[in-house]
Amino acid sequence: MKLHTLTTIALILSCLFFSDLSAQQTLVNIYGRKMQSLNGKWDAIIDLYAQGRGNKIYLNKKPEGKTDFYEYSFENGLRLNVPSDWNSQAPELKYYEGTIWYARRFDAAKETGKRLFLYFGAVSYRCRIYLNGQEIGQHEGGFTPFQIEVTKDVKEKDNFLAVEVSNTRTTDAIPAMSFDWWNYGGITRDVLLVSTPNVFIEDYFIQLDKYKADKIDARVKLSEKTANAAVTIEIPELKIRQTLKTDQNGEVKTSFISRKLERWSPQSPKLYKVIVSGVNDKVEETIGFRNLWVKGEDIYLNDKPVFMKAISFHEEIPQRKGRAFSEADAYMLLSEAKALGCNLIRLAHYPQNEYTVRLAEKMGFLLWEEIPVWQGIDFKNEATREKAGKMAREMVIRDKNRCSLAFWGVANETQPSEARDAFLKYLIANCKSIDTTRLITAACDLVRFDRERQVFTMNDPFIKELDVVAVNKYMGWYHQWPLAPDKAKWDVARGKPLIISEFGGEALYGKTGDADVVSSWSEDYQATLYRDNLEMFKHIPNLRGTAPWILFDFRSPFRLHPTNQDGWNRKGLVSDQGQRKKAWYLMKEYYDSIK
Ligand code: GCU
Repeated sequence: MKLHTLTTIALILSCLFFSDLSAQQTLVNIYGRKMQSLNGKWDAIIDLYAQGRGNKIYLNKKPEGKTDFYEYSFENGLRLNVPSDWNSQAPELKYYEGTIWYARRFDAAKETGKRLFLYFGAVSYRCRIYLNGQEIGQHEGGFTPFQIEVTKDVKEKDNFLAVEVSNTRTTDAIPAMSFDWWNYGGITRDVLLVSTPNVFIEDYFIQLDKYKADKIDARVKLSEKTANAAVTIEIPELKIRQTLKTDQNGEVKTSFISRKLERWSPQSPKLYKVIVSGVNDKVEETIGFRNLWVKGEDIYLNDKPVFMKAISFHEEIPQRKGRAFSEADAYMLLSEAKALGCNLIRLAHYPQNEYTVRLAEKMGFLLWEEIPVWQGIDFKNEATREKAGKMAREMVIRDKNRCSLAFWGVANETQPSEARDAFLKYLIANCKSIDTTRLITAACDLVRFDRERQVFTMNDPFIKELDVVAVNKYMGWYHQWPLAPDKAKWDVARGKPLIISEFGGEALYGKTGDADVVSSWSEDYQATLYRDNLEMFKHIPNLRGTAPWILFDFRSPFRLHPTNQDGWNRKGLVSDQGQRKKAWYLMKEYYDSIK
């Protein structure tokens, strides 16, 4: 039999073998469940040549006799914090790309009638999970949560949990081989041991109707297809309490009318306590209710047209040169956006941690969340498409109850092609298979100046699939002005709302002078660039939002200028030390001028 047939069979077999190890979809509202944190210091082994799995180091074997020995041990070696990236934890790991093994021991309260799940907020980029010497799950994608049921595998005492993590870039990954942010690796978000009753409330979606101001739609799904089970949904402050019987799929669907309901908005981010109970399970959380839709070139929030005063930030604390992962980190990032006068955050370019999403909702921010379909993705690759679809579902499942979530972004700066279009349509279908209420968008970068018509135009037929069209355009940086900014007319995506999802230029904090010289890297030139772009924005008839790139300087392997960049993208309005640049004040003034 020819070699390639053999490899194909092997591949299919391995996929089959591995597929049943792929991690499960997460329970909704994990932080509303009974849980034990597994965060803290974990033992670690740097596995440069990825030999650990072949050597079964997850067995953590110890010599027994006089002749056997093992060239690894998880004791008395490297210790790494979880959650955190590994790059910021040791100088030798700053640039590390490869495999690192994490391990820790834990005891588990095993109770009759209870189930146990291991939950990971995110592991960058792909991982395999081993418990007590058994491989129990795998996950790919550095920015979405996953869980693995361990009810049968876990012991009361002294469980040994090993996690094989790799952030090695590959062409079939999302993002792929090159992207303009640091390729942080590690167990970057919370690890929890979650306990539920045997039959539990697996999922619910409770949101205000897209258009009606008093109609709350609710659906709840049990973990089992149990019919006629009683499920109760309560919103005490609105005196709403309803008990319903599940259908044969273990689901209930209903709507409530509440005329007293105060809708959530950035100005008044009202949240309500919501309790879902039934089958010995009870989950509580806070949910806000708002209407959001598009009509013509306008975006309506609670019946009023709204302008998106946006900003983007990466999930990074620049002062720590590391991934953000905690509520305190979220507060730092969001407070700076609040000070700038923003009402929308573009979480670039990937779903960020749940602390950021929930705190944003409390602080009155709308959110744009996207999966990292960034520039050169292998759109023709079936497996890559499946992965992207799964990432989109994981993102939507986690955050669908957050009224702050306004936009699902399906791509950033991708070049038109049949394969690309099919890929993105698939992602949109995946988002809509769970949630049809949010606005679908994508950041395009194909606006060009049409010299004949003396106007900026864009030819990307895919925009017809989008509710809101977004454009990244770097006038005064990557593109020089073909005419004066106050003469710059736009004819882009007319008939739809348009958001400038990226614009800006680099400046090293403290560098001044040469306000008209791009290569000055000065705050003065950055300020000029902002003034010019803000002038041009006045001439974009369907402009309904702007998002400067970017709130903070951020780390990127793309940025090689030794003195002006030194591994930092300096397009921040705020430096890596938290200092506001001159352009920050221009943007603040602009946002304060928009009511
Ligand atoms: C792109 C891209 C960003 C990048 C930015 C830049 O538009 O979407 O991820 O950081 O440009 O070049 O600074």
